[in-house]
Amino acid sequence: MRIGIIGAGQLGQMLGFAANELGIECRFIDPSQDPPAAKCGKVIQSAFDDSVALIALADTCDVITYEFENVPVAVLHSIEGIAPVYPPADALRHSQDRLDEKRLFAALDIPLPNYYAIESRDDMDNAASSLGTPMIIKTRRFGYDGKGQFIIKKIANLDAAWEELGGQPLIAEQFVAFDYEVSCIGVRSISGEIAIYPLSRNVHVDGILRTSRSPVINSKLADKASEYVHQLLDHLNYVGVLALELFVTGDTLLANEFAPRVHNSGHWSIEGTETSQFENHIRAIAGLPLGSTASTGCAGMVNLIEQITGATRKLEVGQLHDYGKAPRPGRKLGHMTVVADTPEQRDALVDIINKSVIKAS
Ligand SMILES: Nc1ncnc2c1ncn2[C@@H]1O[C@H](COP(=O)(O)OP(=O)(O)O)[C@@H](O)[C@H]1O
Ligand SMILES: [Mg+2]
Repeated sequence: MRIGIIGAGQLGQMLGFAANELGIECRFIDPSQDPPAAKCGKVIQSAFDDSVALIALADTCDVITYEFENVPVAVLHSIEGIAPVYPPADALRHSQDRLDEKRLFAALDIPLPNYYAIESRDDMDNAASSLGTPMIIKTRRFGYDGKGQFIIKKIANLDAAWEELGGQPLIAEQFVAFDYEVSCIGVRSISGEIAIYPLSRNVHVDGILRTSRSPVINSKLADKASEYVHQLLDHLNYVGVLALELFVTGDTLLANEFAPRVHNSGHWSIEGTETSQFENHIRAIAGLPLGSTASTGCAGMVNLIEQITGATRKLEVGQLHDYGKAPRPGRKLGHMTVVADTPEQRDALVDIINKSVIKAS
């Protein structure tokens, strides 16, 4: 079997490693030269919307998947007659537009923050009256790692936000004073079998994920999150891994967004569960039975952003994953995962890694 993957970044690389372990070959399409996934399969160097290259990929693969969310939906439609494409294009379509995504949550009775669609400068005032401040303005499309967002602390900031983000479809959201953030990752097979990963507690700094810790010992929250992910997976007739990000306030969960792909907040699953999110994504789309998502211990993951310091490389507390990418401001270059017997031991190891990521000056 051969799987075609649109995108050859670190997610493609980790999918590729998992596929290769299962004896499955991967072929990628990516515009960059020598991307991370080149380590685990042939890369067709081409734009994501180059129809000739995409058709060549679909023609030579048994199934197609994608590792990032900005693949044009039309691209998936153009090849799904040649090879099956998972997750389904409809899931990608909802996740690409924050307004669509929120309407989907609401239709499925998944609780979410209050929001207001913005098309004009006047709508910004209406949003502020409806939601109050603070509120957060986001571009409906193409945002990632906190990009395309503006926090409105007071009404006087509306002009600055409009200056920065106006002229494209926007959405305003109530700013949620959450206790913490979690994500729930689920996987659904072609036959409709579903497996859910233990909840992960995530810390973002400047909109970028810094650390994930799992499991979260709170069965009430875990059950609710699992129920929401089940609803999404079944409703979308989904195949593959899906990640749902949620805000936690007390015992309440509010859905923030979902990603129709393997997710950074599930990287700990490589060492921290019996079957990683990458292996289960491959299993799902390849028509294999899903593997167990049970934890193997208390896992912690620290993202290595902008640089991987010598101090981090020297640590022997966990597993370093170096994606082999050139350093660039804000860029995720790798991560380190630890698995401990207790949450306290795990947190102590995460602290050690966190200290090592700061370069000695
Ligand atoms: N409505 C909100 N209230 C409070 N914090 C928010 C809200 N929306 C986003 N954030 C913060 O910004 C981070 C990134 O926003 P998110 O909507 O997940 O966009 P991205 O696509 O960049 O991940 C979130 O993980 C959270 O920390
Ligand atoms: Mg997010």
